[in-house]
Order: sequence, then structure tokens, then C-alpha cells
Amino acid sequence: MKITNEKNDIKQVLFTEKKISARVEEIGAQITEEYKDKAPIVACILKGASFFYTDLCRQIKCPIHMDFISVSSYGADSQSSGVVKLVKDLDNNITGRDVIIVEDIIDSGLTLKYLKELLMSRKPRSIITVCLLDKVDCHPAEIGADIKGFDIGDQFVVGYGLDYADYYRNLPYIGELKPECYQ
Ligand code: IMP
Ligand code: MG
Repeated sequence: MKITNEKNDIKQVLFTEKKISARVEEIGAQITEEYKDKAPIVACILKGASFFYTDLCRQIKCPIHMDFISVSSYGADSQSSGVVKLVKDLDNNITGRDVIIVEDIIDSGLTLKYLKELLMSRKPRSIITVCLLDKVDCHPAEIGADIKGFDIGDQFVVGYGLDYADYYRNLPYIGELKPECYQ
């Protein structure tokens, strides 16, 4: 697969840079208020959450520790394989700490469920999940995020960190990918 003009593959822009940054600012303010005396570990799930994560961290106006974790579940497919593999662990010991997991998108919810269970076993003081996009119709309500940016339907989206086969991550907006590009 070789892509030369990523913009041609977008069916419609769903969230512009402006809309994303306004929502990220709101979420940052909410976290600042709730975590101002806690110095939480804010954990980025690589690579999809990378832009959301760095923008969000800059909107959190209290001390935090930044950390990164990487799991793989999708490979080059657009459907979850149901198997989540830990590729890179956090550097910090999270026992007794307040942890904020930052994810790009919830689809089946398998990735977040796996990660939450893994990190809970290390006995942090608290854990919440923050997710930029939520495909609300694709998972049971009880495995949704604690804080989310936007709800979307059952559609495949790319940009602002989100990929298909590792392409499209550097688009500054989030758009729906034309079905012929991934089917
Ligand atoms: P889940 O385990 O099915 O919830 O899938 C979550 C992961 O799948 C996310 O971290 C994304 O990397 C990827 N993913 C799910 N839906 C999309 C999408 O529409 N575009 C790009 N990646 C997606
Ligand atoms: Mg991905």
C-alpha cells in the first residue's frame, strides 16, 4: 500500500483543528481542577493518542509526570483482532499514584479494558481514562471512558494521531476515511 495524497482519501472532515483544540482546552481545565494537588502520572497510549496527549498535557496547569505505554491490537486491519499485546510498558512505578490513561479512540473497548486491568493490578491510588473519541454504539456502556472528547458513529476515522496502516496520522484534523481506502 502506497499513499501519495492523503487528503484525497478523506470522505469528510469531522473535527477541525479549532474544534479539537477548544475541547482539549476544556478537558485540560477539568483535569487541572480535579488533580491540582495530586501530581498524577499522565500515560499516553502510543501512537494514536500522541497529538491529543501532548496538546492535553500543555492544557493541564498543575504538576504531572508524563509517561508512555504501547500496545498493539490492530496491525494493518481496520477491525480489532481482539488480542492486545503490550509492546512498551510505562517507565514509572504507579503503585499508590493517581493515573490518567490517555487514549485516542474507543471502538470495541478491548484495548482500554486490557490496559485498565493491567494497571489496576499494580495498585495505583486511582485510575481514570480519557479518550478523545468514543464510538458509542460499538461497545457496552460500562467500558466507556471517564472523560471523553466527542462521540462518533461506527465509522473509520484518521488524522490527529489516528492511522490506517500507520498512514494519515499527521493530518491536522480528524476525518472519515473513504471506505474504498480500507476495504
Ligand atoms: P478497541 O480495542 O476496539 O477499542 O480499539 C482501540 C484502538 O483501535 C485504538 O487505540 C485505535 O488505535 C484503533 N482504532 C479503533 N477505531 C479506529 C478508527 O476509527 N481509526 C483509527 N484507529 C482506530
Ligand atoms: Mg491505531
